[in-house]
Amino acid sequence: MKVSSHVVARMLGAWQEGPGSAHQRLSDRLRLLVLDGRLSLGSTLPSERDLAVALSTSRTTVGAAYRTLVEQGYLATRARARATVRLPDDTSPGPRPGASPGTIDLSFAAPPAPVEILHAAFAAALEQLPRHFERHGYDRNGTSELREAVAHWYERRGLPTAPDHILITNGAQHALALLARTLLSPRDQVLIDHPTYPHAIATFTEVRARPLPVAVSSSGWDTVQLQAAGRIARLAYLIPDFHNPTGLCMPASVRQSLRLACPTVIDETMTDLALDGESPEPFALHMPTAISIGSVSKSIWGGLRIGWIRAAPSVLERVQQTRHATDLGTPLVEQLATAVLLNDGRTRRPGTLQQLRSQRDALSRALAEHLPGIHAPQPAGGLTLWATFPQPISSRLAAIAPDYGVTIAAGPRFGIGGAFERNIRLPYALPSSRLTLAIRGLAQAEQALTRGATGVHNPAPVA
Ligand SMILES: Cc1ncc(COP(=O)(O)O)c(C=O)c1O
Repeated sequence: MKVSSHVVARMLGAWQEGPGSAHQRLSDRLRLLVLDGRLSLGSTLPSERDLAVALSTSRTTVGAAYRTLVEQGYLATRARARATVRLPDDTSPGPRPGASPGTIDLSFAAPPAPVEILHAAFAAALEQLPRHFERHGYDRNGTSELREAVAHWYERRGLPTAPDHILITNGAQHALALLARTLLSPRDQVLIDHPTYPHAIATFTEVRARPLPVAVSSSGWDTVQLQAAGRIARLAYLIPDFHNPTGLCMPASVRQSLRLACPTVIDETMTDLALDGESPEPFALHMPTAISIGSVSKSIWGGLRIGWIRAAPSVLERVQQTRHATDLGTPLVEQLATAVLLNDGRTRRPGTLQQLRSQRDALSRALAEHLPGIHAPQPAGGLTLWATFPQPISSRLAAIAPDYGVTIAAGPRFGIGGAFERNIRLPYALPSSRLTLAIRGLAQAEQALTRGATGVHNPAPVA
């Protein structure tokens, strides 16, 4: 696939800012785009001349950046052909070069497992399992025990729900991918929060839909802009409950007044992580046609890989048809264990919520002490702070942070067109002492950047 010079220029964003030579900054930024997956493997880059024009820079700068990437193994060149994106032969998953085994991973926003209650739930699930042995074990909707438990979870939150409005999936990401394949066609526009959850952007681009970003600013969602975008979008995807990455929660007044003309997918993955009050009301109370997706990955444990879609049976039937092509159902023991956990109300555990609160506070204190220049409002729930630096240093900081013992997800991964170069997402799912150490490391990395350091690390995966 050919990537045009304008698309590359948009992805690069403010590449010219920062220390180091222009060609070095350009090759650093292009390499991060490759490693982030925003420039996909095998795609062909624009010619040096075209990119130089689009970037308003010299052809020499682009030529030098391309040569560096060829030497590092990120570009392949052939005579009279465009440069093609590749990965160096030694880019295997596993520890990042230079990142020691003790590196603190701030790229994942996911809590550890609540060990005892998981053991108990799996023990109960194994007792129930023999009831299912006479059947074949394939169930594209999910087992009735879990669909009922999810329906009750909505009912307890005030939203009447029948089990046949629930389809069980392998996590919320799977739910979103199934919906994207079912509801979207190439070139359709999808309204997204901007910033948003990076794998949602990947899901929509995978089906060749075009993201239509609407800003989620520090003051939240703008109803007028959302409604205007909803008139041209084929689908909307919003995370109103403790939004990833900003942690913001859509106010009740916006929920009540928002009317979108297109089908709307509401991601409620973080709903149960209200830290300073009650969980928000289910979005579908105010928009009955909303397609809600959820999971227990953040409220219990990501390793369960259990999520769901709540929608009208007619929508779920279409999703089932799509599902044939990808998978034939969700593992049964995990479903039975999750039903036990939901029925016991284990998605909101006071001890875990208290621990998250104190980790969130510890992170804020560490930021105030070690990185006083950044702005990071405390969210009322979820797992992440969205920090803003005075300078656009996010990608470069992510590149060198492993040298200082931390991995982070750079701000541009949460947006399109190279946006959010002043932001990083900081999860508070780790113990307070680790968070404090990580922020000290980041502060040292930031100081090194201002002295002109660069890095060659793979970006961390995000969740
Ligand atoms: C907003 C949002 N949606 C979906 C997911 C994916 O969740 P799951 O692990 O259930 O697939 C995540 C995970 O980070 C998320 O933050």
